[in-house]
Amino acid sequence: MRPLGAVTRGTTNPNRLRRIDNFIAYRCGDLLAGAAHPLVVDLGYGATPITAIELRSRLATAVRADVAVVGLEIDPVRVAGAQPFADPPGLQFRRGGFELAGLAPTVVRAFNVLRQYPEDEVAAAWRTMTAGGAVLIEGTCDELGRIATWAVIEAGAPATLTLSARLSDLDHPATFAERLPKALIHHNVPGHPIHDLLAELGAAWEASATPFGPRQRWLATVERFRQQWPAQFAPARWRRGELTVPWTF
Ligand SMILES: C[S@@+](CC[C@H](N)C(=O)[O-])C[C@H]1O[C@@H](n2cnc3c(N)ncnc32)[C@H](O)[C@@H]1O
Repeated sequence: MRPLGAVTRGTTNPNRLRRIDNFIAYRCGDLLAGAAHPLVVDLGYGATPITAIELRSRLATAVRADVAVVGLEIDPVRVAGAQPFADPPGLQFRRGGFELAGLAPTVVRAFNVLRQYPEDEVAAAWRTMTAGGAVLIEGTCDELGRIATWAVIEAGAPATLTLSARLSDLDHPATFAERLPKALIHHNVPGHPIHDLLAELGAAWEASATPFGPRQRWLATVERFRQQWPAQFAPARWRRGELTVPWTF
């Protein structure tokens, strides 16, 4: 079967997806720990397989040593280039697209992939990647991974939106607007819920200036923000510069 999708730019970087790996270990750790064969697909790993290598190493340390990661790429040149880094059975690289090359993973990470597709192809890609029951983490970040946003998708439907930033670099929450998932980036205009969310978060940030540094400011921001929006998860996640809300967009 021909892989579903199209070859796009392969930009990637070491540690770019560190924040997302940490979230996957937190959000999907129990799921992976309870799986008979814990398999994670890293879809669209890019010009080099570094982020797939890091994902496997982080999950093996944080969740379970026998976790397997398969990096799937639609570009056969990138699949061939990754082979010297394979370490089977824990780490493999194969050609594949949104159909997941016949694999049945517990978790799929697809980062900086859908942003290069037309928005009207997003819903079908979400449905295809979750058809076998996987939890999908799909999102976008900057080149160094200092600012990121992602959706958790189950059974084709988005469940949550997460915003995550290295707080020492966060000038203002408005910066998240440039890195929203493809499903939201064109909807950040007045009258749309994602615009309301970023406006509320920005107002909370402006009202939370403190001499005690960016982490304290962010924590105060989330405390204000959650009076209007239900922030999920424990404050330990907020301390990491992360904020997750139910998907109501
Ligand atoms: C910008 S790179 C992202 C690399 C890495 N995930 C990261 O975030 O640093 C996007 C990669 O996704 C691949 N890609 C695009 N559509 C795909 C699909 N449907 N299935 C598998 N790979 C795909 C492209 O060939 C490209 O190498």
